Order: sequence, then C-alpha cells, then structure tokens
Amino acid sequence: MTIQWGYHFLTGIKTIDRQHEGLVALVNNLHKVAAGNPLPAEVDDAFHKLTDYATEHFALEEQLMAEAGIAEDDLTAHQRAHTSFVGELTDLWRTRDEDAKATTEHLLEFLTTWIYRHILITDHAMARDYYQKKGLTPPPSLLLSSGAVRLPGE
Ligand SMILES: [Fe+2]
Repeated sequence: MTIQWGYHFLTGIKTIDRQHEGLVALVNNLHKVAAGNPLPAEVDDAFHKLTDYATEHFALEEQLMAEAGIAEDDLTAHQRAHTSFVGELTDLWRTRDEDAKATTEHLLEFLTTWIYRHILITDHAMARDYYQKKGLTPPPSLLLSSGAVRLPGE
C-alpha cells in the first residue's frame, strides 16, 4: 500500500515537510518498482535513492532541532531513532533473499509503518517542542496529532 501524502503529516516547518514529502515519494517509488517485474538493479537503485535521501534528511532535521535549542536528551533519543532506522533498514536489505519481491514487500511494510509512526509521533512531538522554544503557535496538524483537538466525527 502506498502512502498518501497529506495535511496530517505537516509539521509546519517547511524544509522538513518538503523533505518528508520527498521521502514518502521515494518510498512510493520503491513500492511501484517492486510491484512490477523489476531487474535487481532497478530495486537496488530505488532503495539507495531512498536511503541516501533519508540520511541527508535526518542530518538536516537533527541540525534544525539543535539550532532550536531542543533538550539534549530529546535530541539524543531522536538521533537514536534515526540511527536504528537506518541500521534496521540496511539489515533488511542485506539479508533479503533471492526472491527479491517478497523481501522487498517485507521491507516496504517496515518502511511504511516506520514513516507513519516516526513523522506523526516523533517528528510531530519534536515540532511541538520547536514551536514552544521559538514562542510560536503550532499549526493545527500538530494539535491533531497530539490529541489536543479532534475533528468532528472522530
Ligand atoms: Fe525524525
């Protein structure tokens, strides 16, 4: 299942949102490539584009957090989440078997779940902190993910 990019993902921090959207697009691309009848080199290419982009994005996110004055403990925990994601993803990739299709699907499941949880829980918590440190009001998407407000009918 591909990830539908939408308002609910937004942190309101433009650079981060743009990169999250790029990350989601690359996950969806890997999904599309894997669903066809891909050559191993095509899956390989799609996978490495994604991990390179993720690594670059994590560095920027961590830098923004440090600049905003996020507490050291929170920053370290967030960095640890990024590092373990890259580690786990690399392990899944390294140990995939010859049936690239099945293992890529397994990998995509992990990726999809991680992206949702990480953006909506970890990154949104970080963004709420970011706004607080800057004395700014967080955008409604962050209030929704915090559970502070609910949409009618939810
Ligand atoms: Fe993050």
